[in-house]
Amino acid sequence: MIKKIMKNWKNKAHILAVLSRIPYGRQIYHKLQRSVRTNKLDAETEIRKAADLIRLIKEANRTPENANILEIGTGWRPFVPMMLSLLNAKSILTIDVNPWLDEEYAFETFECIGSHLELIAKECEADINYIEHRYQEMIPEKKSLTSLLDSCRVDYLCPGDARKTDLPDESIDFVVSSNVLEHIPAEILSEILVESKRVLKTNGFAVHRFNPQDHYSGFDSSITGANFLQFSEKEWKWYGGTGLAYHNRLRCRDYENLFEQNGFQFEVNRVRMDQKALNAIQANELSIHDDYKKYTPEELAADYMWVVAGKTEVSSINSSKKESLQNK
Ligand SMILES: C[S@@+](CC[C@H](N)C(=O)[O-])C[C@H]1O[C@@H](n2cnc3c(N)ncnc32)[C@H](O)[C@@H]1O
Repeated sequence: MIKKIMKNWKNKAHILAVLSRIPYGRQIYHKLQRSVRTNKLDAETEIRKAADLIRLIKEANRTPENANILEIGTGWRPFVPMMLSLLNAKSILTIDVNPWLDEEYAFETFECIGSHLELIAKECEADINYIEHRYQEMIPEKKSLTSLLDSCRVDYLCPGDARKTDLPDESIDFVVSSNVLEHIPAEILSEILVESKRVLKTNGFAVHRFNPQDHYSGFDSSITGANFLQFSEKEWKWYGGTGLAYHNRLRCRDYENLFEQNGFQFEVNRVRMDQKALNAIQANELSIHDDYKKYTPEELAADYMWVVAGKTEVSSINSSKKESLQNK
């Protein structure tokens, strides 16, 4: 019954809007998710998402091996830090403003990784023998969250804010995140990029994958990923502009500007199109709000973005080196 109600995006939006605004709303939401199993583990999807970040690092001709890594937005299941550890990262600091991670989720994730080592090796383009050996090293001595995180070389900082990590300057090789940036307001994102630039080593990279589409379209097939672009800022504030369902509705062009304005230059900047949303926009089936009229239909319909960005000074030195080599 609850599942059926929640399949309609407006019902879910109203419930989340109310829960966001009442005491203990977050805890109630979490209990609800667990009882109706809407947060059921989808192992292959989670593994593929975390492997995306590892492949992006490799695309920039780097490796997580021996790297010091900062992850923004741990969430419930620590696939990203644990898989980075499996690839032999030296240290992973994962930080979150919300305390979603607990012992149960951590062990569920670790065991799931253990039963999918072949898939992980394939997705991360890594040697299976190496992965199997490393997994054995990661098995904790005790069945406790602290012991598991220790054996995975993971530090969990919560509550922690990616705007102020207290890490030393230039101490991090990669700042990474998966499905996080779309949930952060533009002003805060700017501050996070400033902090990322400070903590990254000269040749370090910001490596992010995120989803600029309307998340309600993931379970309500009657709407497209561009659905939320019909609303004014004021209307969206109720449906998903605050609290538990927060989505910033930034378009890929806005992210590009934010990265560049805060001193980053792209090594990888990849965008995916949601064809269903594009068709709806081009056929005028969706009335786009005036605030979004400045974007092209493709910019409105983009539903995923993968980014690897280095500090501007270094990237521009690299690209001018590349250019001068090409001119020889
Ligand atoms: C949608 S969840 C994604 C979690 C996880 N990366 C995943 O893919 O399952 C976004 C997470 O980002 C966290 N977050 C939001 N703003 C943050 C900030 N300023 N610093 C650190 N974490 C933040 C939220 O608390 C939430 O856990």
